[in-house]
Amino acid sequence: MVVTTGSDGITPRDGWSSRTAFILAAVGSAVGLGNLVRFPAEAGANGGGAFVLFYIFCIVLIGLPVLLSETLIGRHGQSSATESVRRMAAESKASRYWEGLAGLGVISAFMILAFYCVIGGWVLYYIGVFVGDLFTSGVTGGALAGMSAEDISAIFPALLENGLLMTVLDLVFVVITVYFVARGVSGGIEIAAVWLMPAFFILLLGITIYGAFGGAFSETLTYLFTVDFTKLTPDVMLAAVGQAFFSLSLGVAGMITYGSYVGRDVNLAGTSAIIAFADTSVALVAGLCIFPIVFAAGLSSEGGLGLMFDTLPHAFQSMPAGSVIGLAFFIMVGFAALTSSVALMEVPTSWAMEKFKTRRMPTAIAIATLAGLLGVASAYSMNALSGFHPLGFIPLFEGLGIMDTLDSVTAKLFMPIGAILTAVFVGWIADKRLINGENGLDGGLHKLWLFLVRWLCPVVLTLIVLFGIFG
Ligand code: PFF
Repeated sequence: MVVTTGSDGITPRDGWSSRTAFILAAVGSAVGLGNLVRFPAEAGANGGGAFVLFYIFCIVLIGLPVLLSETLIGRHGQSSATESVRRMAAESKASRYWEGLAGLGVISAFMILAFYCVIGGWVLYYIGVFVGDLFTSGVTGGALAGMSAEDISAIFPALLENGLLMTVLDLVFVVITVYFVARGVSGGIEIAAVWLMPAFFILLLGITIYGAFGGAFSETLTYLFTVDFTKLTPDVMLAAVGQAFFSLSLGVAGMITYGSYVGRDVNLAGTSAIIAFADTSVALVAGLCIFPIVFAAGLSSEGGLGLMFDTLPHAFQSMPAGSVIGLAFFIMVGFAALTSSVALMEVPTSWAMEKFKTRRMPTAIAIATLAGLLGVASAYSMNALSGFHPLGFIPLFEGLGIMDTLDSVTAKLFMPIGAILTAVFVGWIADKRLINGENGLDGGLHKLWLFLVRWLCPVVLTLIVLFGIFG
């Protein structure tokens, strides 16, 4: 086995201590705010079962092949994302400019990190609200005792108006993230995943079961799973593909980076399938967790961030032991967001360590500082800087503040373009001898995978980009 060295060229390169650790870390990266906030809202609003079926189709036929391609590039290269692509390109006698696909990913990961930590800060705020609430409302009663519906509705807008508070919370979330990243792969990132992901699963199942007994479970099943194909318009289909990609953390070189810490003995196809299965299951269970609580309180399934930060607090008020469940819920969301922000921070950190030959600790702190600064600008884009539209001169990003611009540029352009380039690189450019055998597939499945990365993935993803721009 080739022993790769770290950025100093002497010490052996850090890596996952086991396959399970890799799976937990990759699932930790995949499972995040996308699963808990966006998926349930989109599934409910866009045709329930039809959306869910189409989403699963996207995960299997488009997400999974690209996930395998990313981990494969990383595991082969055993270096940062750009260096891994450069190596595979060099060994395939292809242009070194292909490393640009990973460079784009590094930039996207940094941009997403900046605003993801702001939302992570909101989650911290709600954890604080529900901790305080335990003292006022007690353990058995509903949450937020004595507050009127208007008072509860005012919590989220008041937070968004308070740039200073959001700044502090954002920085706290960044500091927690960098704590794990700075300690390295096996000593930090893996520890976060190994402890937080099982805790996340226990909380998710616990709240779901509790909600199912007291809540409107059958109404939820109807809402999420009644198949109505008339709602499956091109818009909705493209939303499903985009969501599948964001949810699997693809197109930002994240899985190339995590894949680079994987040992040669791990079967990548089987492992990627487990990651995709776990991520999709969490998205589905998140719907079964959230909607029974919302419907039992007679509330509407309003989509977007409001579902988590506005509708749910109302629902916890009318739920027995709502203050405990509310607290458990936001802690659970915090765990999921943290393991994702750790992955997002690792991408630019590992890139910069190799590029500038620097040690992990100072590099991670520098990246965290820059992401924190961009996060502060995002936080103020909700209030004082709301009139500033950085890319307002481009019709696609007209009227968007800093935070929405970061989100839109990455989701509509950078992530799908990164994924298209990855599929084309692995499907067409890379020497097949480097890939055959490395991906853990043979026979018909290997041929199917190659067909998907060569044809289906690039075509569908190109449609997403074009639709995003002109649609
Ligand atoms: N997959 C995460 C989510 O669903 O919230 C978001 C994400 C994390 C995207 C890490 C990209 C990434 F590298």
